[in-house]
Amino acid sequence: VDATTQAIYQLHNDAQRLYQHTLLNTTSGEAALQYLHDKRHLTDDIIKTFGIGFVPDDNLLLSYAKNQNLSPSLLSASELFLTNSAGEQRDRFAGRIVWPIKTERGQVVGFSGRALDKDNSIKYMNSPESPFFMKGRILYNFDRAKNVIRQTGTAMIFEGFMDVISADMADQKVGVATMGTALTSDHVHQLAKIAKRILLVYDGDDAGQTAARRSIELITNNTKSLEIGVVHLPDHLDPDEVRIKLGLPQLAQSLTQSIQTPIEFLVDDAKRDKNLSNQSQYLQFLKEVMIILGRATPVEQDLQLTRISKEFGTSKQALQAQLAQTLQQKSN
Ligand code: UTP
Ligand code: MN
Ligand code: MN
Ligand code: MN
Ligand code: MN
Repeated sequence: VDATTQAIYQLHNDAQRLYQHTLLNTTSGEAALQYLHDKRHLTDDIIKTFGIGFVPDDNLLLSYAKNQNLSPSLLSASELFLTNSAGEQRDRFAGRIVWPIKTERGQVVGFSGRALDKDNSIKYMNSPESPFFMKGRILYNFDRAKNVIRQTGTAMIFEGFMDVISADMADQKVGVATMGTALTSDHVHQLAKIAKRILLVYDGDDAGQTAARRSIELITNNTKSLEIGVVHLPDHLDPDEVRIKLGLPQLAQSLTQSIQTPIEFLVDDAKRDKNLSNQSQYLQFLKEVMIILGRATPVEQDLQLTRISKEFGTSKQALQAQLAQTLQQKSN
């Protein structure tokens, strides 16, 4: 890399160190540290392992960078500062808890900052897109996870950093997360090089389930070699909430035991927001199921039709006939 990039990398490393010091050892970090301990149940060991920090309000990094004689244009290119209309720079992430985002090789190239109370400001602010921080390519925690992914053959994809950290605490060390953007084909290709199986562990809310549907589609379209599993979490929670509300053993159990095939997940997903004791909504559900099963193997079709027949009391014969009809209409 060129000298400017090298200086920007160095500044990110220094920022990470200063931010972590502020969180762990200074009074301006006390409230943030208390939040991480009490509300997020993180230990100092985990905070250190993941390099979490806090950015004080007093332009700590700006002062440091000026002492290093770094030029304003370099500071601007680093994206670690905001510039006001008068041209004055200040620390971009002031007042936020920050998670360093690293490349596959472990170089810090950006941060994600969380507000302590999300009433006053948007919850998460990320480093903006730049030549050295491309969200469509970066996977959070890939530097730590990749060897274990290679050894075990499995990678887990999460929505957020705290979900990756929660999984790590539950002894599942193969977690990565996309940086507040959707999964891209570049992400998939990086994972496909070292993994045989991908587990999608998205939040149990509607947004998470929609993301899971989209990612299944994307992975299927990009590689034929990857097996996909979808982890079902209890009570519409996200993985971090499962850890905090239901406990670490429950999270470990979900991540290793509550794994659905994509077809199983899609069929269950078609049940969402429907009152299935209402006949027309049940028929609509079956219509969607038949379209999903049009892409399934014969055995998967049989498994799902058996399941539906048992659950709703419709004869398996009738379900099979309707699937045959749907497949025929599709081919016409
Ligand atoms: P979530 O809203 O599920 O956040 O967004 P979270 O990780 O559960 O947050 P906590 O637990 O309240 O701290 C999932 C991810 O989407 C990105 C972040 O990367 C977040 O981890 N995101 C979310 C943003 O970039 N900006 C936002 O305003 C919200
Ligand atoms: Mn404490
Ligand atoms: Mn979410
Ligand atoms: Mn979440
Ligand atoms: Mn969360």
